[in-house]
Amino acid sequence: MAFGANGGMDIKMDIINMTNISKLYKTGVIQVDALKNINFKVVNGEFVSIMGPSGSGKSTLLNLVGCLDKPSGGSYELAGHKVEKLTDSKMSEIRNEFLGFVFQNFHLLPNLSAQKNVEIPLIYRGLNAKARKELSEKSLELVGLKDRMHHLPSQLSGGQQQRVAIARALAGSPALILADEPTGALDSKTGNKIMELFTELNENSGITIVQVTHEEDIAAYGSRILRLVDGEIVSDAETNRRKNG
Ligand SMILES: Nc1ncnc2c1ncn2[C@@H]1O[C@H](COP(=O)(O)OP(=O)(O)OP(=O)(O)O)[C@@H](O)[C@H]1O
Ligand SMILES: [Mg+2]
Repeated sequence: MAFGANGGMDIKMDIINMTNISKLYKTGVIQVDALKNINFKVVNGEFVSIMGPSGSGKSTLLNLVGCLDKPSGGSYELAGHKVEKLTDSKMSEIRNEFLGFVFQNFHLLPNLSAQKNVEIPLIYRGLNAKARKELSEKSLELVGLKDRMHHLPSQLSGGQQQRVAIARALAGSPALILADEPTGALDSKTGNKIMELFTELNENSGITIVQVTHEEDIAAYGSRILRLVDGEIVSDAETNRRKNG
C-alpha cells in the first residue's frame, strides 16, 4: 500500500492556498484579531514548521488549514477546492480523505487498544472490519508498534502514544498531515524520534506536513519555517535541510 496520495509524483500543485485570510474572535466586548491578512501557500511535498510566541495565532492557522474552523475573511483553497463554497458534508469528506491530524496530547480513546484507536478514521471512511484491521496493522507497523497493537494507551509510553496517534493519522493515506505541537508532551530524545519519522514520511512517502512547534530544533526538521507574531507572518523561509538536500 502506498502511503501518501503524492508518493513518487513529481507534479507540483498547491495543496494549501490561502489569500488574505483573517480570523477575528469576539468574546463579549473583547475582540481578538487572531490572524490578519495571511497569505500562505504550500506545495505538495513540503514540510512546513509554523513558529511564533504563545498567542500568535499558530493553532488558529492550523485549525483553518484543517477546516476545523472557518476564517472571518479571505479565501482558502484546499487541494483546489474553494473551502468557503463547500457544504459541511463535502468538507468532512475532504477532511477524511485528505487530512491526518496529530495533536499535542495525542487524543487517544483510553478504553480502546492502539489498533482500535487507529481504526477510528477508517470507520468514518466506511471501510469494513477486515480492511480496517489490515490498514491499522500496516500503519502501526510503519511507526514501529506492531508488537503493541493490543495495548491500551495507558500501557504505552508517551512517545509510543504519539506514534499511535501518528499511525491513526496515517491509516487513511492522507496527502497532508497537520500536527499541533506533536512533540510538546514528549522529552527531547523521543521528540527527535517523532521528527525522524515525520522526515521519513515526508521524504519517502511524499506526504506533505504542516506542524506547529515552539521549539527551534524541532522546527528545523522542516524544509521551511513560517513565523507568526501577533497574527501576522513575519518571516517565511526555507531551512538548511531543504537547501542542503
Ligand atoms: N476560541 C477562541 N475564542 C476567543 N479567542 C481565541 C480563541 N482561540 C484563540 N483565541 C485567541 O486568539 C489568539 C491566537 O490563539 P492561538 O491559539 O492560535 O495561539 P497559539 O499561537 O497557538 O498559542 P500557543 O503557543 O499558546 O498554543 C490568542 O490571543 C487567543 O487568546
Ligand atoms: Mg497553540
